[in-house]
Amino acid sequence: MFVKNCWYVAALAAELGRTLLARTIAGDPVVMYRTEAGLAVAMLDRCPHRLAPLSLGKLVGDSLECGYHGVSFAPDGRCVRLPGEERIPPQFCSKTFPLEERWGFVWIWLGDPALRDDSMLPQDFRFQDEPGWCPMSDHIHVSAHYELLVDNLLDLSHEAFLHMNTIGNTAVAETPARTTLDGDRVEVLREMPDCTPPKLFVKAAGFDSNIDRYQRLSYKSPCYVIIEVRATPTGRPDDPTRLIWWVLNALTPETESTTNYFWGLPRQFRQDDTALTDMLRAGITRTFEEDRQMLEAQQRVVVQVPLDSRTVYTRADQAPGRARSMVAAMLAREARAAAQATEKRSDEAA
Ligand code: FES
Ligand SMILES: [Fe+2]
Repeated sequence: MFVKNCWYVAALAAELGRTLLARTIAGDPVVMYRTEAGLAVAMLDRCPHRLAPLSLGKLVGDSLECGYHGVSFAPDGRCVRLPGEERIPPQFCSKTFPLEERWGFVWIWLGDPALRDDSMLPQDFRFQDEPGWCPMSDHIHVSAHYELLVDNLLDLSHEAFLHMNTIGNTAVAETPARTTLDGDRVEVLREMPDCTPPKLFVKAAGFDSNIDRYQRLSYKSPCYVIIEVRATPTGRPDDPTRLIWWVLNALTPETESTTNYFWGLPRQFRQDDTALTDMLRAGITRTFEEDRQMLEAQQRVVVQVPLDSRTVYTRADQAPGRARSMVAAMLAREARAAAQATEKRSDEAA
């Protein structure tokens, strides 16, 4: 079960073009493309005629023509061609989804379009677009439930074990983090003074001494984990050798056991250094590949043994626990609203 009245990242903006892109998002099959003018379009990947996937069709101008019997739909879902029929019944239309293109990502609203709320977009993703920042983004597929990915990012003590060749150092496991609730967000702050710099930090910023490392995580329900990262030589916060970046994580559920993991890593130092960008991309890709392998192995276990059957909890489990409660509350709100709507409909019919 997935929250529907929220935004999910559906694609990197660069992924969408004049070729049909089929993607399952929170259990819903979706087909996406751009109009000739470049506007992004998303439709349910299911032809209303005989339910063939529309992604097997083709684009004719701005319309999507089903590959089975040639019925065509305009970007707003209206049927514009019904071969062999003169009259097109007005109800013959394909379901479309609101999209919002921002900060290099395409966001989709799968729920009730009347409830669309742009203030629910995680604003921290704006650093991908902000002057003075160098953007970087990509996407990986992970065969694990998206909440396992949220857990992973909200407990970064794992960096000290899984990512010692890139972003891990021992301080990240040994320094207790402070978890707080701030409205609809969970925040986790970890300050690590005078610690050994992780290998990737040395390569990126050229540290030759210990560093003061700062890590602030912010979780926004249901699937966003935003990480602010700063590192400077110990005791010298204004030293020109410093590392400032954000790790923007959008964990879009695909199915109950798979996730499309979109990430951004805007940085605020050596912005024009393309060799650094390439090196960082390789380092981050390696890091997330390490996560992917662990998460997929964990997923294979949790389908046999539910995660909440465990009896051991650590302090670092606090934030993932809060995040899961927030998702459960969102799901319960949507279930209540759906039950009320059904009740109202049956009262009206009676
Ligand atoms: S199933 Fe699409 S036109 Fe028939
Ligand atoms: Fe990780």
